[in-house]
Amino acid sequence: MDARVLDRDLAAGRRLMARLEAFAGFTDEPRRLTRLFLSEAHRRAAHAFIGWCGEAGLQAKIDAAGNVVARYEGRRAGAPALMLGSHIDTVRDAGSYDGNYGALAALAVVETLHAREERLDHAIEIVAFGDEEGVRFRTTLTGSRALAGDYPEDALDQRDTNGVSMREALIAFGGDPEQALFLRRKGVAAFVEAHIEQGPRLEAEGLPLGVVTAINGATRFEVGVDGVAGHAGATPMNLRRDALTAAAEMMLAIEERARREPDLVATVGRLEVWPGATNVIPGHVQFSIDIRAPADANRATAIADIEDQMNAIAVARRVSTSLIKTHEANAFVCDAGIIAGLTKAVEAIGLSPRLLPSGAGHDTMAMGALCPAGMLFVRCKGGVSHNPLESITVEDCAIGLKALTQFVHDFRAD
Ligand code: GLV
Ligand code: MN
Ligand code: MN
Repeated sequence: MDARVLDRDLAAGRRLMARLEAFAGFTDEPRRLTRLFLSEAHRRAAHAFIGWCGEAGLQAKIDAAGNVVARYEGRRAGAPALMLGSHIDTVRDAGSYDGNYGALAALAVVETLHAREERLDHAIEIVAFGDEEGVRFRTTLTGSRALAGDYPEDALDQRDTNGVSMREALIAFGGDPEQALFLRRKGVAAFVEAHIEQGPRLEAEGLPLGVVTAINGATRFEVGVDGVAGHAGATPMNLRRDALTAAAEMMLAIEERARREPDLVATVGRLEVWPGATNVIPGHVQFSIDIRAPADANRATAIADIEDQMNAIAVARRVSTSLIKTHEANAFVCDAGIIAGLTKAVEAIGLSPRLLPSGAGHDTMAMGALCPAGMLFVRCKGGVSHNPLESITVEDCAIGLKALTQFVHDFRAD
């Protein structure tokens, strides 16, 4: 089945691609895209987004939790809103589309309505969440959790590697830590997030779009391993209490446990070693664990197994470990009505609908606590994401925007 993509759809896709490219210029690091939550690049990106909203007739602002929010009124002022958006923070050395696609596609939908002076029965609210990746502080989804009335207050005391607290960074950004607790939204009828797939299924099946059925649950830990630092030349091997080799064995045990179970994944993505010198046996190590699975019970069992394994390794190697849970989100089932609506929109533009789960986490999981929520996936090259090689075609960019626009037009708030 081919999507019915007209010249004007392609033109809209090209505009969105150009904007995504320009937006990728807002980075904290030269020559690669890194835009961490509440950083200077995030601040500049948020203000650019606000400026573009202004050109589309929207009065956008930064809310107390660091999101950019804007409202396009419906025919009747104060009508229930369909909220659209995604996140604009990134991982380190990121691709240009993760999150940014959904935030800028939401804006593109409203730009077209504004240009046609068209109002719908429902309002549209746009949101560019700030804190989805959880790279800078040991917390994630605080922006969407704030709108859902579930703001994790203790997150404000988290500090980044430079010792800056999230509270301080939020104030400098233009947010308001005290008010972030009271952002729970009223009048939002539904939330829909367009996002690149970040996996290979759509490409393998030759399909540009997918409708998300569910999002994997995730748990993250911060692990500390304490051994004894010592002289690399003078300490015999059998007398060492090396924190790094103990951590290495733990990481292999984590990988082995995850490999035993289909659909369960576990990652150690960050590792820090103290004192970090060639001639010193490592005395302290910190590392992160990220564990995900479609079934919460399987995730819980794997976590218990991993903790047991890590304790056994610690005893055998005479080191001590501490495990702090920094994030937990149960698996999320997307709203049946939103799935049906997105499926209809995909069919309406001439495509076979493909329902699929998401391995990656998304703000939709948090928004589901507020209102019916769901997601539209756009194919990405090779399924590659969290990588500068992340790529989508102009055609797919246009098709995703067309399906989202179709959904917005067909949406009924009751
Ligand atoms: C966000 O991209 C996540 O799934 O970690
Ligand atoms: Mn994302
Ligand atoms: Mn991401």
